[in-house]
Amino acid sequence: MKSKQRFFKETIKDVPLRGETVLVRVDYNIPLNQKGEISDDLRIRGSLPTIKYLLERGCKVVLISHLGRPDGKEAKYSLEQVGVRLSELLHQSVTFIGDTIGDEVYQTVRKAPKKSVLLLENLRFYSEEEADSAAFAKAIIRSTRATYFVQDGFGVVHRAHASTHAIAMEIPSVAGLLLEREYQTITAAMKAPTRPLVAVMGGAKVSDKIGVIEHFVSVADTILIGGAMANTFLAYKGYGVGMSKIESDQTEVLDRLYAAAAKKVGQENVDSFIVLPTDVAVANEINAQAKRVVRSVADIKFDDIALDVGDESIERYTAIVANAKTVIWNGTLGYAELPEFAHGSARLALTLATTQPKITSIIGGGDTADFALKWDGSDGKSFSHVSTGGGASLDLMAGKKLPGIESLLDARP
Ligand code: 3PG
Repeated sequence: MKSKQRFFKETIKDVPLRGETVLVRVDYNIPLNQKGEISDDLRIRGSLPTIKYLLERGCKVVLISHLGRPDGKEAKYSLEQVGVRLSELLHQSVTFIGDTIGDEVYQTVRKAPKKSVLLLENLRFYSEEEADSAAFAKAIIRSTRATYFVQDGFGVVHRAHASTHAIAMEIPSVAGLLLEREYQTITAAMKAPTRPLVAVMGGAKVSDKIGVIEHFVSVADTILIGGAMANTFLAYKGYGVGMSKIESDQTEVLDRLYAAAAKKVGQENVDSFIVLPTDVAVANEINAQAKRVVRSVADIKFDDIALDVGDESIERYTAIVANAKTVIWNGTLGYAELPEFAHGSARLALTLATTQPKITSIIGGGDTADFALKWDGSDGKSFSHVSTGGGASLDLMAGKKLPGIESLLDARP
């Protein structure tokens, strides 16, 4: 990336926080396995620099977050075990409080010494959180007596909730270090990338990512399409896709996308600008026994389900990626939960890992980050940046304004 512009909001480095009680919104909405245990702690690790920065300045750090989409108080969505993991990573005790507002919170925070870390219970145990309730935001502040609010939950800043919006109307509110890093890295790659910029788009649905794909038509040099969304593109182009999952209501959207692409690169170059698979890996069922069979896109049978890009497409995609200088990857290229259909995503990950640091690689959050971290097995160090934001990083890449960032104090000139 060429230039690094100053962040447009105040951060914890711009305000005098020494010894204050600071309320920090983190995004500890982390994946849990079937037993309800933490399966990936990227978001907890991502919050450590801000917490450490505040502790070094003698602050009392009060963390707030949501976990999942509970219906009222559901024990399985308690943040208690997250507090335990945080304490291990921080090498410091973390006091978990079993409520988000009220006297227990007030008394515990009041008695806690400076340089202590406290974690409040899941914000979404109160429906007021998602309702962006000013009264709830005020109650959190009253209960904690916080004097500053720090937004560091990058993964949730696309929501206008009490802890991302209303609260910032009440006390001076600034960005944390994770939020600043995510915003700066992603926007620099979108606005001033070292070129060529290749966007790799996968995942299930065109409709989920159309805002980002449209934006990439204007900023990227090549867009590679994979995942189940490639089936929708192939069907649009007139290929039979058998029993593959497609969205048949995206014709107008794709008409618009291809018209914009033709305007940018010329009709004759559209198919080397928006690149679709020429072959796919298919099966007749989706389960661990399903075997990978590769077919040309022109030969897909009526009962085939396309579950990954094919071997020829993998070679073509990885060659394009290897010649890039910046790669932004959103969405796995196949049904990556099943190893037989993770070939495309794994080869892409390998290409990015082995070309670092020549290629700046940005991995969008959510499923793509989950895959990249599992593949990497070493904290995501094979990539330049693994985002902690799913929907938030997509909205940022689509050029949308994020309420949880907009509500923070503007940086002074
Ligand atoms: C996320 O994981 O995308 C954020 O934590 C937001 O969660 P939500 O989609 O339930 O609002």
